[in-house]
Amino acid sequence: MVDSRDLATLAVDIAREAGALARRRRTEGVAIAATKSALADIVTEADREVEGLIRGRIAAARPEDGFLGEESGAERGASGLTWVVDPIDGTVNYAYGIPHYAVSIAVVEREPRPEDWEALVGVVFSPAVDELFRAERGGGAWLGESRLAVSDPTDAGALLATGFGYDPATHAGDLARLARIMPVARDIRRAGAASLDLAYVAAGRLDGYVERGLQPWDHAAGALLVREAGGVVGGLPGEAPSRAMTIAASGALHAALSERVFHES
Ligand code: IPD
Repeated sequence: MVDSRDLATLAVDIAREAGALARRRRTEGVAIAATKSALADIVTEADREVEGLIRGRIAAARPEDGFLGEESGAERGASGLTWVVDPIDGTVNYAYGIPHYAVSIAVVEREPRPEDWEALVGVVFSPAVDELFRAERGGGAWLGESRLAVSDPTDAGALLATGFGYDPATHAGDLARLARIMPVARDIRRAGAASLDLAYVAAGRLDGYVERGLQPWDHAAGALLVREAGGVVGGLPGEAPSRAMTIAASGALHAALSERVFHES
């Protein structure tokens, strides 16, 4: 029987070490190493180095576990647990010197479809402001000693966040969706790091978040934070968050957002 407290302790230690490395590399100057699927989809040497550090620490501590990382791909382990890692979420911010980026680490019980993966542990660390969000399944979501709770917006205006996927074919749909959401929003942020968008929903700093096109490493840790903070994270109707859609908010707002998002024509 796996002890999720031990996993969480390890994930927190690794996230802190990885974040310190990312921050150090940032002060030394960062260059874009490659552009991947789109102009916004970039990688820096620091992304690769930080993922290498995380992967090495996990392999040393838990050699039976699997791994899925944004930069170095997947390896199936024998234990049934997989570490899902974005070494630097918000790489565009990071490359441009905007201090809004994060190390995102989740430990999931691996099912055949990524949509069905259930995180046991989620950690999102924002090194530039030294904020570490963590959650264990059934143990709540935490920022330091403060237990997190999603907001319960009582008036019509919700502060929302979103992002834009890399596939140009989806951009017109993204913009149309925003136009439908605007009437219920106080405002909409596009801050550039999905894991932090989700952590901020968990912390009640944002009321809700909607994005299409996320990968498991973008949302695995943050989704657990939101759920453990009392919120709802879903995808298309009746489904878990997926590349097709991720919506996170308190229960009532989630329903309202889903209604507007799903009435896509
Ligand atoms: C990206 C960021 C961004 C989101 C993209 C992600 P990356 O992650 O989280 O906010 O809109 O969908 O891919 O590429 O910076 O790790």
